Amino acid sequence: MYNDNPTLSGIKKEIDESKQGEVFFQEAGLQGTVSDQKHFYIESYGCQMNFSDSEIVASILSEVGFQPTRNMEVADLIMINTCSIREKAEDTVRKRLRVFDKMKQQRPGTLVGVLGCMAERLKSKFLEQEKLVDLVVGPDAYRDLPNLVSNAEDGDKGVNVFLSREETYADISPLRLGSNGVSAFISIMRGCDNMCSFCVVPYTRGRERSRNAFSIVAEATDLYQKGYREVTLLGQNVDSFKWENPETQEVVSFADLLAQVADVHPNLRVRFSTSHPKDITDEVLYTMARYENICNYIHLPVQSGNSRILDLMNRTYDREWYINKINRIYEIIPDCAISSDIIAGFCTETEEEHKDTLSMIEFAGYSMSYMFFYSERPGTLAARKYEDDIPLEIKKKRLQEIIQTQTKVSQAHNQRDIGKTFKVLIEGTSKKSDQDFKGRNSQNKMVVFPKAADYRAGDYVNVTIHKATSATLIGEMIAE
Ligand code: 5AD
Ligand code: SF4
Repeated sequence: MYNDNPTLSGIKKEIDESKQGEVFFQEAGLQGTVSDQKHFYIESYGCQMNFSDSEIVASILSEVGFQPTRNMEVADLIMINTCSIREKAEDTVRKRLRVFDKMKQQRPGTLVGVLGCMAERLKSKFLEQEKLVDLVVGPDAYRDLPNLVSNAEDGDKGVNVFLSREETYADISPLRLGSNGVSAFISIMRGCDNMCSFCVVPYTRGRERSRNAFSIVAEATDLYQKGYREVTLLGQNVDSFKWENPETQEVVSFADLLAQVADVHPNLRVRFSTSHPKDITDEVLYTMARYENICNYIHLPVQSGNSRILDLMNRTYDREWYINKINRIYEIIPDCAISSDIIAGFCTETEEEHKDTLSMIEFAGYSMSYMFFYSERPGTLAARKYEDDIPLEIKKKRLQEIIQTQTKVSQAHNQRDIGKTFKVLIEGTSKKSDQDFKGRNSQNKMVVFPKAADYRAGDYVNVTIHKATSATLIGEMIAE
């Protein structure tokens, strides 16, 4: 679910975290603002969950009179929603803090807040290391922001990194910032109980908890009524979603939830991310097959194709088990696209074991993958138990081989689409040409095609593909 570029459907190189910062703003909010109105500016890094959280933060702040701005220079409050997943992500955040420091020196009184996973990981150390930071707020403490901001305005720096077992922000209606008005994220659960040995998330986002299913369906309904046509249900591990209705004791599983959201309207597409291979059930797969509006796309990170490494990673499945899962998906949903996350050079990985990862990419036939080399994170199981013993050059070499293999597989995957016709949801104008629309098919592939009068973002159209790269399908609309 790692979001560097949500529109990308082909190959992804080691993510350049410096390119991930996204500024949220709201055009409407910028008009007619009065000069004494307070403004906040927020940049988000990391996973889709963080982007979704920034919309919750925006909502909380707008309730106390703050307006969003895309211009850091006029902001009274500058916030950065941070990622700790790899060292590089944290380096990027520190670089951005230098820029904010300069801004603060030019405009004394501007407050700087660090939110998200890095805030949680470093806690009050942040205030010691970064003297100009005023607020440090962890992922479960955003309701406290108005209070922390008001204290900081009085000169009291504040930290709240309390991790909750209950907080899901179920009642907060996210302020959809920087949205295309067509697709939106809905956070359905928070935290993670999986304890993959390489991962810092269980420490930064706390225990797993599921959000009230009624509030999720209500949010999807509201989005549909506002003109949105696609929702992505978000969580670190969506397949373990489980919510018990306190009145009836009825338990809503992820498969049930998918069906309930799909029932909102046949024209509302439903996507979800991320699935842990151990938790995705046949029931989920059959539900996907049953509903045309649940997209045929699963992000199913393998991490490694080798059973010994998977064991060290504490993934709780082995190569054979994962292969069976892939077979089951293609059996129940033959045209499903599957994507993955892959880590190169985990502790003690041999050349042979690395080759198992390459062969897994070929076997699974991923449409795309997010690929990284291993980055040791302080405090994780792997950091405590295993030596980070693969030299950086070897990690990089293996990553390159993984990228090459995935590029080849993505290319072949997309070539197979030439001549096919897909139902595409128009998201807007293509980045490369204002004569073209861009949109996605059910398999989450980006499709680019010439514009035609009378169509706009949010419309469904049929597009026949005549060309493909490893990242994009190119085609033409056909009459209905
Ligand atoms: N080093 C490299 N990649 C990591 N990921 C998580 N932790 C690490 C780490 N320490 C990757 C995994 C995960 C994705 C979000 O980031 O592939 O699925
Ligand atoms: Fe998202 Fe935090 Fe994980 Fe980064 S470390 S990908 S922000 S959950």
